[in-house]
Amino acid sequence: MAPEPISGNDFRFLQQVLRQTCGLVVPEERREQAAEVVRNRMAELELTHFRQYRCLLESCCGPDERMVLAGRLAVGETYFFRHPSQWRVLQRCVFPWIAAQRDNTTDRRLRLWSAGCSTGEEAYTLAIVARQAFPEDGRWQIEVIGTDISEPAIAAAKKAYFSERSFRGVPEGLRTAYFEATSDGRQRPIKEARQLVRFECLNLLDGSPPCRDIDVVFCRNVLIYFAPEDARRVVAKMSQCLRSGGYLFLGQSERLERWSNDFATIRVGDTFFYKKLPGSAGPLDSGSRGAGRVRCGASGVLRRSSERHPRSQGQPADSSTRDPLSRTAAPSSTAGKRRRLSVGDRQGPPEPRGRAANPGPQEQSPEVESLRTQAMAHLCAEDLQAAAEALEDLLRLVPEDTQALLGRALLKAGEGDCEEAVR
Ligand SMILES: C[S@@+](CC[C@H](N)C(=O)[O-])C[C@H]1O[C@@H](n2cnc3c(N)ncnc32)[C@H](O)[C@@H]1O
Repeated sequence: MAPEPISGNDFRFLQQVLRQTCGLVVPEERREQAAEVVRNRMAELELTHFRQYRCLLESCCGPDERMVLAGRLAVGETYFFRHPSQWRVLQRCVFPWIAAQRDNTTDRRLRLWSAGCSTGEEAYTLAIVARQAFPEDGRWQIEVIGTDISEPAIAAAKKAYFSERSFRGVPEGLRTAYFEATSDGRQRPIKEARQLVRFECLNLLDGSPPCRDIDVVFCRNVLIYFAPEDARRVVAKMSQCLRSGGYLFLGQSERLERWSNDFATIRVGDTFFYKKLPGSAGPLDSGSRGAGRVRCGASGVLRRSSERHPRSQGQPADSSTRDPLSRTAAPSSTAGKRRRLSVGDRQGPPEPRGRAANPGPQEQSPEVESLRTQAMAHLCAEDLQAAAEALEDLLRLVPEDTQALLGRALLKAGEGDCEEAVR
């Protein structure tokens, strides 16, 4: 006998269960889809009445069954090198900063977490980009952890066989270099990338983070499905497991500002990411003040870097069909001379340090921290106009900031304005 249809009350019960268990908000528009998932699950379990399924969800086996249901109802859309500009920023700015920061230490461990990794494409992309940035000479120990609430997704991620759908927009060069064909026409990341990654089933709302001292967290297109208070709880956990000064990447349409005050927002061209502020680690207080916000440029208007930079006009726009790691945003006059930044590369831009020995309250503010990092990010993306604007904003806040004064002088000298540079 086919399972009976699901009533409005049943749907409301499911909504509540899913929200409580894993933060998932299932809107009315997805009611029919949710009903279909539940009917299929009931048929698998040979249950005919929803009340039987409800009993199961409320029983001692409920937590496991709730995870199964959440895993099937969650949106698992993903593909390799999704949002190419974020991968570029990771490779050009974030990894070289991390390398520079550890220069004087013996710590050569790099921990990356793909939280809500679905079938693993994001975690393997992290491994590939890290492998490109950090040479394979045994000095750096790279560890990528992929976690998701969905057991089938994690099982698929571990197997690592991917079909054409996962390669939307991945350029041929990257495919040839980092993937190998299998006999059934699918593709796998090469062993050197696969062995850097491990996967675990984890409910972000419930479980503890997979490890501590993480350098970079990618949690993209996950919190968009959460209610704000649940997103806040998850971000607080991420903040706790990130190193001080660690980085967080969210999806393009997700904004951290409402959920946490532990991070500075860094904007580079048309992409943005977050940096954990030194000294912020504990759970969030309920009245979140919002992340340190930075408006780029005196006008406060954020535009694409190609619009601001006269020399970058005519450059190809960011597009998922181009090599996500190529330097498409670079000014054409110097493009030929460039190469990718890697850890051994002394040209790698150092992370902005330069705090005064006894910084005043202004110098410690998230906004100042953001502007410093942002100026460096623009410099390393070679968006000189945007870097100059960030430095001007920084000097308005901290007029005596030595690094900013020096940065501005160098930019002026680079423009040939030596008089202004000396001044
Ligand atoms: C749209 S996919 C995003 C995949 C990848 N991050 C990306 O951007 O390409 C969202 C993933 O979040 C997972 N997810 C949703 N709620 C979760 C939770 N409470 N704990 C862990 N993972 C969750 C889903 O199972 C799904 O695989």
